[in-house]
Amino acid sequence: MTRTVLITGASGGVGRAVAQRFRADGATVVAGYRDPAAAEALTAMGCRPVRLDVTEESDLVSAIDGDIDVVVNAAGVSQGGPLEELPLDTLRRQVDVNVFAALRVAQLVAPGMRQRGYGRIINVSSVAGRVTMPGMGAYAMSKHALESMSEALRHELRPFGIAVSVIQPGGIDTPFAEAERRDFRHGHPDGPYAEFTTEVVDRLSRNPVSLHPDRVARVIHRAATATRPRPYYRVGGLAHIMLGLHHALPSRVWDRLLPMITPTPRRPSTTDDPRLTVR
Ligand SMILES: NC(=O)c1ccc[n+]([C@@H]2O[C@H](COP(=O)([O-])OP(=O)(O)OC[C@H]3O[C@@H](n4cnc5c(N)ncnc54)[C@H](OP(=O)(O)O)[C@@H]3O)[C@@H](O)[C@H]2O)c1
Repeated sequence: MTRTVLITGASGGVGRAVAQRFRADGATVVAGYRDPAAAEALTAMGCRPVRLDVTEESDLVSAIDGDIDVVVNAAGVSQGGPLEELPLDTLRRQVDVNVFAALRVAQLVAPGMRQRGYGRIINVSSVAGRVTMPGMGAYAMSKHALESMSEALRHELRPFGIAVSVIQPGGIDTPFAEAERRDFRHGHPDGPYAEFTTEVVDRLSRNPVSLHPDRVARVIHRAATATRPRPYYRVGGLAHIMLGLHHALPSRVWDRLLPMITPTPRRPSTTDDPRLTVR
């Protein structure tokens, strides 16, 4: 492959696995990192490392200074916590990284791709791009937004030879889950969500199914090299089951099923319980 591929969040996890796969294929890989320690490893892999905090306009502009044929938006963060208690600034940060950054990358690469009549934009979403778990609303709303943004872009860019695909993996074996637990905002200790959030974090640490990042990278590579890339790629059994069920079941049935697969808050038994009014 002689194309040039830009990968955001290439310092580890899926981004790094994607970089490895494209390097093995002979592509020129422009690999975005934030931690300078990651740059050396990326150079050793034969990539061209670029400092790229996706929320920094100047980083984005200098990373995208040449022709880019394929973009893989892998950078992402997850901010867990009950939505009632999450500060809006925290939510904005979640959307900045997971949504606006991917859109800004698309805005910057699209003119060159259009001129050459070829381009692939691949956005790494999640099962959470379709299925929302309580306690994970911020992450889910960001991935839902990423998917609807990708859908609009797909239709807007297709006439110019630019294909947009969304990748929907289940749990992946990367440092992501650990960061998710670390950054999780527990409910107020005397509030209505304290017990619930402890249960959510406990469930996160017992996530039974984890994909190897290379499995996701293989699918991303396929989306980048297919003659007619698909709009959506589910990766792993969990993604197929959860997305299939969520799509097939009526909302009321899904709502009854949800407490069987994930913790939900419980109402205190008395109406004068002080936890009901904590702010
Ligand atoms: N792991 C899962 O279970 C899972 C499941 C479904 C979907 N996903 C999605 O897969 C994608 C890749 O995640 P992963 O599993 O590979 O996790 P990861 O190893 O934690 O990778 C996340 C990457 O995003 C980068 N990043 C975060 N904020 C950034 C910013 N402001 N600017 C630039 N880079 C930033 C990180 O860079 P630093 O190293 O500098 O922090 C890291 O390279 C994410 O979009 C995630 O939502 C993950």
